[in-house]
Amino acid sequence: MSAFVADPRLAGRKVKRIAFTEEQIAARVRALGQEVAAAYPDGNLLVLGLLKGSFIFVSDLVRQVPRPLQVDFLVVSSYGNEMVSSGHVRLVYDPQASLQGLHILLVEDIVDSGRTLSLVIEVLQERQPASIEVCALLDKHHATHLTHAPRFVGFDAPNEFLVGYGLDHAENFRHLPYIASLE
Ligand code: PRP
Repeated sequence: MSAFVADPRLAGRKVKRIAFTEEQIAARVRALGQEVAAAYPDGNLLVLGLLKGSFIFVSDLVRQVPRPLQVDFLVVSSYGNEMVSSGHVRLVYDPQASLQGLHILLVEDIVDSGRTLSLVIEVLQERQPASIEVCALLDKHHATHLTHAPRFVGFDAPNEFLVGYGLDHAENFRHLPYIASLE
């Protein structure tokens, strides 16, 4: 789909095209839920969403995973566009005291450089979980900082500025039910 999309949520901003429709996302999230359940035949699973971008994806995904699980979120400190250096990343919101023995599924909206994920995984690994895997809705596949490739990926993302379904531009457009690229 291209050209102008007449959506009152956009407040006049034009979207170049819709990259993934609401229906495409729903179908893929349903399939991902099955993939996740199949990958964890036993053990305690904690789904950890990385805020803010993952908030819609997490809420849709967990309802499609037919097995017991718990949900929590992480907020990572960042300073402007620069994350603090590796080893000093700070969790602004820290999920729970002990992750020991839990299977952690870290949920990201989009993997770009991979820096966010790498830093978070490094911090979480110190807490001796049983495993850490990543589920990313979108992967741009040009991560150069990534030490831990996502095990579950919703879509290969085009190299465009994407908004919607949790992704923002200056905090706007997170509430779009589809994923679009801005003009
Ligand atoms: C965005 C996005 C990912 C990260 C990906 O988060 O939600 O978390 O950047 O980029 P990377 O792979 O290059 O690290 P942002 O810092 O914009 O915060 P937000 O989730 O609150 O939107």
